[in-house]
Amino acid sequence: MKDAQPRAIYLKDYQAPDYWIDTTDLTFDLFEDHALVTSVLGVRRNEDHGEDTPELTLVGIDLELVSVCVDDTELTPAQYIQGSESLTVPVASQAFSLTVVTRIRPQENTSLEGLYKSNGMFCTQCEAEGFRKITYYLDRPDVMSKFTTKVIADKGRYPVLLSNGNDIARGEFDGGRHWVTWEDPFKKPSYLFALVGGDLEVVEDTFTTMSGKEVALRIFTESHNIDKCDHAMVSLKKSMKWDEEVYGREYDLDIFMIVAVDHFNMGAMENKGLNIFNSSCVLASPDTATDASYQRVEAIVAHEYFHNWSGNRVTCRDWFQLSLKEGFTVFRDAEFSADMNSRGVKRIEDATVMKTAQFAEDAGPMAHPIRPQSFIEISNFYTLTVYEKGCEVVRMIQTIVGKDNFRKGSDLYFDRHDGEAATCEDFVKAMEDASGVDLSQFRNWYNQAGTPVITVTDHFNPSSRQYSLTIGQSCPATPGQDSKLPFHIPVAIALLDQKGQALPLNEVGETEQVLQVTAANETWTFDGLTEKPLPSILRNFSAPVRVNYDYRREDLVFLMKYDSDGYNRWDAGQRLATEVIQDLVKGLLKGEEAEIDSKLIEAFGVVLADEQLDKAVKTEMLRLPTEASLAEQAEEIHPLQICEARSRVRKAIAVAHKNQIQALYQTLEQKGDYSPEATEIAERTLRNTCLGYLSELEDDSQQQLAVDQYRSAGNMTDLRAAMSAVINSSYQSQETIDALLNDFLDRYKNDSVVMDSWFMMQSASPSLGTLEHVKSLLEHASFDSTSPNKLRALLGGFASGNMKQFHSGSGEGYEFLADWIITLDKQNPQTASRLMTPLTRWKKYEPVCREHMRKALERIKAVPDLSTDIYEVVTKSL
Ligand code: ARG
Ligand code: ZN
Repeated sequence: MKDAQPRAIYLKDYQAPDYWIDTTDLTFDLFEDHALVTSVLGVRRNEDHGEDTPELTLVGIDLELVSVCVDDTELTPAQYIQGSESLTVPVASQAFSLTVVTRIRPQENTSLEGLYKSNGMFCTQCEAEGFRKITYYLDRPDVMSKFTTKVIADKGRYPVLLSNGNDIARGEFDGGRHWVTWEDPFKKPSYLFALVGGDLEVVEDTFTTMSGKEVALRIFTESHNIDKCDHAMVSLKKSMKWDEEVYGREYDLDIFMIVAVDHFNMGAMENKGLNIFNSSCVLASPDTATDASYQRVEAIVAHEYFHNWSGNRVTCRDWFQLSLKEGFTVFRDAEFSADMNSRGVKRIEDATVMKTAQFAEDAGPMAHPIRPQSFIEISNFYTLTVYEKGCEVVRMIQTIVGKDNFRKGSDLYFDRHDGEAATCEDFVKAMEDASGVDLSQFRNWYNQAGTPVITVTDHFNPSSRQYSLTIGQSCPATPGQDSKLPFHIPVAIALLDQKGQALPLNEVGETEQVLQVTAANETWTFDGLTEKPLPSILRNFSAPVRVNYDYRREDLVFLMKYDSDGYNRWDAGQRLATEVIQDLVKGLLKGEEAEIDSKLIEAFGVVLADEQLDKAVKTEMLRLPTEASLAEQAEEIHPLQICEARSRVRKAIAVAHKNQIQALYQTLEQKGDYSPEATEIAERTLRNTCLGYLSELEDDSQQQLAVDQYRSAGNMTDLRAAMSAVINSSYQSQETIDALLNDFLDRYKNDSVVMDSWFMMQSASPSLGTLEHVKSLLEHASFDSTSPNKLRALLGGFASGNMKQFHSGSGEGYEFLADWIITLDKQNPQTASRLMTPLTRWKKYEPVCREHMRKALERIKAVPDLSTDIYEVVTKSL
């Protein structure tokens, strides 16, 4: 029997396992309607637990049990207990071998967890708790085992058979079947197990490690995609080199493999020696991938590769420690990307994700600390908080202890815990021991949810020539945490004089200082100033907090011009634009025609004209805050007014600066062959940003510009930018829009990854992406409701990317989404659960939307037999 109601499990209840599994020998016999899994486990009692554990309970889900043997003796059904999700066998000795044979049905596994089929290929996804869908096991990360895997399948259909480690033997059977045996010399938890069987092509290369060992690199895809693997391969080699140079980490096996699969719940998975990727995170060619996709492929290849140390060699003791590997690895890949591309832009992008999406999560019903204290379904905790805020927490440690100490701390951490399942506490302790810096108070970041707010006030005393900054901190209540202890927050600041120069803050003339904010309220005093400076606060986004300081609008314009910190320079513009748009929203709600503050329009003109400004940063500064960001910062969300106000400001900027934008567009004329190199990306992005503004103009020649760019585009970046400009314009005819959409379809209908963008561009378009249109796209031949990528593109694009259409009507958009969530919950709970996010924020919306969203949630909640995934999100949300 299944539990009537799913129950939460708690970090405080953690106990080491009663048994260890030293060796795991698996045999997979793969057939067209089932797979037979034989598992031989070398089990040993955990001696620390004494002798009072007379039985061993393994977990398993959706398994057909065929037989159970203990040390060569087959057990009768009376000798073991089979629960709905468990198998309990009697234990008579300290160490024994347990053989379990199960039958599973990969072909029917639509959850994409465990062993399943994607486009005719067998593949696995075991993190976090998918291995239990393959065989009975101690499916928990602190049980680490040496795996040997034999895969047997039809040779014609599945010529390629892969698993972790090195292939040590292979052979053929009569009847066209063949087998390969893989041995992974490193102990690993079951979540890092992987298997692949399919008709795949391979791209090969090699990498020579710092100690001179040659590693074979192999990327596998379906044959029609084999020409799109070069960028992933280049990225892999760069990652391997970078991890040696920056962290001293060398690769440890003879082979490193990546396999691209179309049906995948997440981005990618770091299985030891055999990473499995969502196709969209591997494949790239100038014709099919945008600059953003190129950078995403590079970042994800790096992320999964870096996990080989931060995740695999040192893994997590339990799933509450998920941020130990994810936060640290995101930090590592962010630094890698910053080194490979524009550091300034990377920081702005990451801060944007934090401030729009993560802050929203931290302010919503699912808020949790980066190390959660409880969960019902761990799959719901692969969140922006665990990943991105976790990364920011690691970054703060580096800021506090300094770069050199951080590296010493990371060396110590890897050294101390190599081959172990560790905790977040182990990581912090290593940093503390290596640096000698006390991080006791800093640990609150691991325990407390919510986004801290720092409130800054200042005072200048001309007679004493002293300037003081007072910083107070607070953190709003989050579910289960009404009051919080003060955080240790590193706040980087500079003080600008009236010319915009940063003043020296100490004897050695440093112009930036990191204030260690630890108290609820504290004052810093700076001596010898002749005038009141303008503070530049939280430079480089030195902590994941909100900053309250009463900047006048002219101060923000000043910072936009002069702040030497790229992030703060950008942030000043975002603050200004947000205030101006908020004014318009207020006006719209009162039925008034509020004026657009000319300071913003002028400031954008200055940015446009600034020839010194780095093009990549310039582009960021020309972007208005997204609707999601405006919603996050609103006290009460009025979605339609936000869309309207933002769109008016965009138009006003285009009208006011038409000539300048046009000129800039022309000077950035594209040239030569495509390359994903940073300076070229910057030019393309700036040029396409200009195109976006020009398409706001009611002017035939400007409208023609986007169509012309579409016709002449030499790469996917320019093609897609042109397509979006056309689709989102209110001045293009339906005929033109349809012509381009059909042309795109003709060219790319056979490319699944590119088709995702075709769906997404439409569903996320405020003008085109009506509910009716989205519904019609569901019927399109290229749509596939078993593909998480397609669902995310069409349903996610609509519900998370199209504020105007999703929230218009009388809750029909919510009802539509709810219907899909209910349907998908039976098929793929993880993907269904991710689609819930927009509805969970219902309490922040204006009353009419709020009530409709609540009703949609109530309807989901009333459905019998919800998955633990949906059950947890819906009950916490209501
Ligand atoms: N460890 C993977 C990564 O971040 C994420 C995989 C999680 N998968 C899942 N179905 N929850 O690289
Ligand atoms: Zn990861």
